Amino acid sequence: LSPQGAVYYLFGATGDLAKRKLFPALFSLYKEGKLSEKFAVVGLARRPRTNEQFRSDVYDSIVEFCRYKADDAELWNRFAEHFEYMSLDINTVDGFRELSKLSEQLEAKFDIPGNRLFYLALAPALFGPVSFNLRDGGLLECKGWSRVVIEKPFGYDLPSAQKLNDQLSQVFKEEEIFRIDHYLGKEMVQNIQVIRFANAFFEPLWNNNHIANVQITLSETVGVEDRGGYYDKSGALRDMGQNHMLQMLTMIAMEPPSRLHGEDIRDEKVKVLRSLRNYKSSDEVRENVVRAQYSEGSARGKELAGYRQEDSVNPESTTETYFAAKVAVDNFRWAGVPFYIRTGKRLPVKTTEVVIEFKSMPQNVLFAQRHDLAPNLLVIRVNPMEGIYIKVNAKTPGADNSVQPVAMEFCQSCQIGLNTPEAYERLIHDAVRGDSTYFTRWDEVAQAWEFVDKIAQAWGEDKKDLQSYPAGSWGPEAADKLLAEDGFHWWPVN
Ligand code: BG6
Repeated sequence: LSPQGAVYYLFGATGDLAKRKLFPALFSLYKEGKLSEKFAVVGLARRPRTNEQFRSDVYDSIVEFCRYKADDAELWNRFAEHFEYMSLDINTVDGFRELSKLSEQLEAKFDIPGNRLFYLALAPALFGPVSFNLRDGGLLECKGWSRVVIEKPFGYDLPSAQKLNDQLSQVFKEEEIFRIDHYLGKEMVQNIQVIRFANAFFEPLWNNNHIANVQITLSETVGVEDRGGYYDKSGALRDMGQNHMLQMLTMIAMEPPSRLHGEDIRDEKVKVLRSLRNYKSSDEVRENVVRAQYSEGSARGKELAGYRQEDSVNPESTTETYFAAKVAVDNFRWAGVPFYIRTGKRLPVKTTEVVIEFKSMPQNVLFAQRHDLAPNLLVIRVNPMEGIYIKVNAKTPGADNSVQPVAMEFCQSCQIGLNTPEAYERLIHDAVRGDSTYFTRWDEVAQAWEFVDKIAQAWGEDKKDLQSYPAGSWGPEAADKLLAEDGFHWWPVN
């Protein structure tokens, strides 16, 4: 699949995502020759802006957030020429007709073969209206393909997601819809299937005979920043659980696909989601899922406000900023192996890590009288460090019969620096190539909502179980108890 020329329509072009992720991703792709010269970017938002102002916004964003520098003036000017801005009222079709005319001009100017990528960095309620207006404004009557990239959150629960999907499907076919989960664009998340399926060390052991438990941690040091309005309605479960965490879980748990093709991989992922054991009652939710909210605290010598004091957050909010859950995957490979997942804001470190804890060797009896042998671990470090390490037991040099855990490590980020392509670069490139492997298919999204809705429903019934944790700490003790009850503990993250 080779990249083709296209017009990129960025709805929400004055927003945070465009600034932090999308403009830098486009610049990196350009620098690497992946955009060629046959492209145009149309920034769309309601706010009036001249092309010059828009290009200057793009420049500032690249200087601040891009892994490449924009210090080659000639290259920058060539890149910036492809950017246009149009102020658009997305609720009326007239502006879309104008956009259609502008598209034809840009296609002629840059010799673009009529391919159109509509990137909707908008609130979900606008996905439907924008799609209808794209159709009615004639934007889909192009010579090449048209595809739509949708940002999360894809709905608030299953019924609202279903409604969104119904609206989108009136305009686009499933293979034209690219639902972003940017965790799937991360290098080490994509590496999970290589580590699993290309190594004789791991795949034969990847089951309930040998694995004791799996732990997935997505910890963040940031609070809600300026997203209080959105976050207070969403919470950690919907913001991170329904998408990033369950997607990572599927990558760890899925069966080998028959081919490395998008549909085959997604078929396997959706089977995992179907095998998740839904909690059957509110009591079961409370036994298996812990939720908490950060209160005032401190980190690295800085005082931190509590969640309820954050901007645009209800001062009596009961929204969770942390959750941890024990999840069961009811299939032959995983029966009996708990998956523990946790995520939270204002935790002590920013990290995404998966720990596979192996069952102890029966030979441990040989050492048991004198040593408490640690289990073997495989740790997949997704972010910010990228790499894997395994913890094995080895003899302590010099000592008699003394055993110590040692780490064997592959540190990708140490070798090539923290400069691997950003998730958004990869995903935009994939969407243009028509490769939807690392985008979520509708059945995955629906299945994930079904699982999450059971938890949200129980939480809605009463709020007594909402815990609190000081900002800068590792969350509530109840999350430790989840594992302790099974004889396990969270492995410290690095
Ligand atoms: C987003 C969430 O999807 O992911 C944010 O909405 C979160 O709340 C972010 O901060 C984390 O992404 P990353 O790539 O920084 O781990």
